[in-house]
Amino acid sequence: MDTDYKIKGLFHQHPKIHWGVIMDIAVNDLVVKYGDFTAVNRISFGVEKGQILAVIGPNGSGKTSTIECIEGLRKIDPPADYRLLLNQFHLEGKKRKYVSSLSGGERQKLSIILALIPNSAILFLDELTTGLDPETRHNLWSYIKDINSQGITIFMISHFMDEVEYLADKVILLKNGGILETGTVDELKQKSGVSQKSHSMLLEATRQCLTI
Ligand SMILES: Nc1ncnc2c1ncn2[C@@H]1O[C@H](COP(=O)(O)OP(=O)(O)OP(=O)(O)O)[C@@H](O)[C@H]1O
Ligand SMILES: [Mg+2]
Repeated sequence: MDTDYKIKGLFHQHPKIHWGVIMDIAVNDLVVKYGDFTAVNRISFGVEKGQILAVIGPNGSGKTSTIECIEGLRKIDPPADYRLLLNQFHLEGKKRKYVSSLSGGERQKLSIILALIPNSAILFLDELTTGLDPETRHNLWSYIKDINSQGITIFMISHFMDEVEYLADKVILLKNGGILETGTVDELKQKSGVSQKSHSMLLEATRQCLTI
């Protein structure tokens, strides 16, 4: 991000109780500007503790700008033991290898390990499965579910609607730096009125929302 980068908004690195719900992240009127250009325009949302939140939306809609702001505000915890993580991801045999010698899938697993090392209660994943074969992608889904079942909140960005449908408890649809829709996958489908016959209902629902 360039030097003109500005963030406004209130964040809480908590947990914080809001209306009886434990929130891991509360974003209030977030604005991200690059010079005169407003990439994210006054968005507000919360992520509950233990939730998997997926941010979706077209290229340039402000997803990465949003996640990077929130990531930057993480508090530093004692790091996790990388050897345990290598075991968990079946990468112990690659400990002494150069990253350049790893396959695409192994590199993505390494990205998760690196994201987990700060031992944060929240895992941030920006398009983690882009470029992976279907099997590796599905394996990563189970890793993410596993990590989440250990109580870690997941904040993810994805362009794959099947992935969002499988993983996300809550979805935020961004367009031009603003929130167009928010809700569960089912709520998004209902709001857009897509038919049950549609091959990927969430993809269709997203298309409908974006064209309104
Ligand atoms: N460092 C920067 N300087 C200037 N403009 C930027 C910078 N980074 C991002 N932008 C602009 O901000 C807008 C939002 O970018 P961002 O990377 O947040 O989008 P995104 O939703 O993550 O897109 P994608 O799906 O392509 O990854 C885009 O119009 C982009 O060109
Ligand atoms: Mg991005």
